[in-house]
Amino acid sequence: MMFYGRCCASVVLIVYIATVAAATVMLKEFYHTKEYGRIKAIRFGIQTMNQSIKNVKKCDLSKDCPLSHYALRIKSGAANAVGPSICFEGDIVMSHGLRNVGPGLNIVQVHGNNGTIKRFDCLDAKDGRTIVLVASFDDVSTMMPEELKDILVRLGSTLVKRIKYRDTWVFAGSSGMTSPFEELTPNDEKTNKYGGWPAMAEVSGCFPRTF
Ligand SMILES: *[C@@H]1O[C@H](CO)[C@@H](O)[C@H](O)[C@H]1NC(C)=O
Ligand SMILES: *[C@@H]1O[C@H](CO)[C@@H](O)[C@H](O)[C@H]1NC(C)=O
Repeated sequence: MMFYGRCCASVVLIVYIATVAAATVMLKEFYHTKEYGRIKAIRFGIQTMNQSIKNVKKCDLSKDCPLSHYALRIKSGAANAVGPSICFEGDIVMSHGLRNVGPGLNIVQVHGNNGTIKRFDCLDAKDGRTIVLVASFDDVSTMMPEELKDILVRLGSTLVKRIKYRDTWVFAGSSGMTSPFEELTPNDEKTNKYGGWPAMAEVSGCFPRTF
């Protein structure tokens, strides 16, 4: 019985080795056949096709965004010759070609829940004839980058850099002036009119025309 068992194991091993060897030889031969070449060509075709599909991803990204994300690409202007461009979810919203950009801050606002464009505009600080009117609501301290504050300073603001959490602020200005049309009411527990909120700020008057 013992001998028979060992013999059987040897036979199985030999058969196994023979099968592997035969398969290897067949595989090697296959690699040199036309059929293999054809399969390789098809694979290569799919790969290049995939490559070209990749190249038309939204906003020219290298891969798709997850469903819970929006694709975007934002390019600043180059020097003062080529305008900026803003692409969102595959649509170019603002660009030189669309003729809707300008010197200054080009801004797009989007409904974050569904990706539709709320509005877009250019906050133009260079055209000396532009008059900018601004009124705060709720809180603006957390949403104003330094660059925006700098632009407002250039438009004549003297208080924008002091705005803190929930301060109320109104402003009217134009480049090359120090604006008299600005009011900042600080959020201060001691003087607040509405608990956690200061009184409304307000300016009014006659703003000089710019030509
Ligand atoms: C091509 O893309 C599909 C879908 O993204 C993927 O399943 C497949 O593996 C890719 N094929 C090659 C050869 O890259
Ligand atoms: C997107 O969401 C906004 C705000 O919730 C809504 O006013 C607007 O109609 C929505 N747009 C579409 C296309 O559903």
